[in-house]
Amino acid sequence: MAGLFDNQADLYLDARPTYPSEWYSMLAARTLHHNLAWDAGTGNGQAAIGVAEHYEQVIGSDVSEAQLQHAMPHPKVKYLYTPLSISKDELLASIGGENSVDLVTVAQAVHWFDLPKFYSVVTRLLRKPGGVLAVWCYNDIVVSPTFDPVMKRFHDTTLPYWSPNIRYAFDGYKTLPFPFENIGLGSEGQPLALDIPKKLSFEGFLRMVRTWSAVVTAKNQGVDLLSQMVVRDLESAWGGSDLVRSIAYKAFMLAGKVKL
Ligand SMILES: C[S@@+](CC[C@H](N)C(=O)[O-])C[C@H]1O[C@@H](n2cnc3c(N)ncnc32)[C@H](O)[C@@H]1O
Repeated sequence: MAGLFDNQADLYLDARPTYPSEWYSMLAARTLHHNLAWDAGTGNGQAAIGVAEHYEQVIGSDVSEAQLQHAMPHPKVKYLYTPLSISKDELLASIGGENSVDLVTVAQAVHWFDLPKFYSVVTRLLRKPGGVLAVWCYNDIVVSPTFDPVMKRFHDTTLPYWSPNIRYAFDGYKTLPFPFENIGLGSEGQPLALDIPKKLSFEGFLRMVRTWSAVVTAKNQGVDLLSQMVVRDLESAWGGSDLVRSIAYKAFMLAGKVKL
């Protein structure tokens, strides 16, 4: 699993969306203190940088050293390599210890995690009372009535190459186990639907799709899901390679406190 995000790490930084700044204000307003935050599965720090606007220190951790090598430096963010083999106690100690963290975020990543292990560490790490865990994903992009059906056809070709856990992201985290107390920002079975607006060129869109783990897995198996013909169809439905479009990613959030 860890290796899935290594190969395309250089593409990742410029291709993946960042998240609206209001999301971080909204989450920061829900935690009692603003000393320490942990962004798990940080990738290149897409969310860690946003969280750092509201917390004194942020730890951005990832199982992929390649992703961390491309992470955006920030004076308040410390990046940390946490191999899959790390024990719960080691992970806990490396982030800050029991009752130390005000906000834990996981952006577009928790569906890859060993959930019982992660939730058990989060439960111990979060401050009680006052600490919050927020996880979110995004799945479909809404571009235009011409492009969206072509995109759907392309997306269908990727289905055999995703790891099974992606189903959580495909269903907008509706079935993701989330055993935390509701704080009004999406709860187990009832995620909060949000949009991530973005201006995107066709080249940017292609770079984003090239970072999909399914596209990388297919390529490793000798299948090029982005053949010239497929790219041509997508480009023509987009409206040309130079066109910059205002698009939206459909996102879903679940946030909660430790149940006491
Ligand atoms: C789709 S990327 C998301 C990166 C970033 N958070 C973002 O919003 O774009 C998923 C990230 O989760 C990391 N990851 C996967 N499994 C992990 C685990 N068990 N613990 C920590 N990170 C993990 C991957 O290496 C990758 O960087």
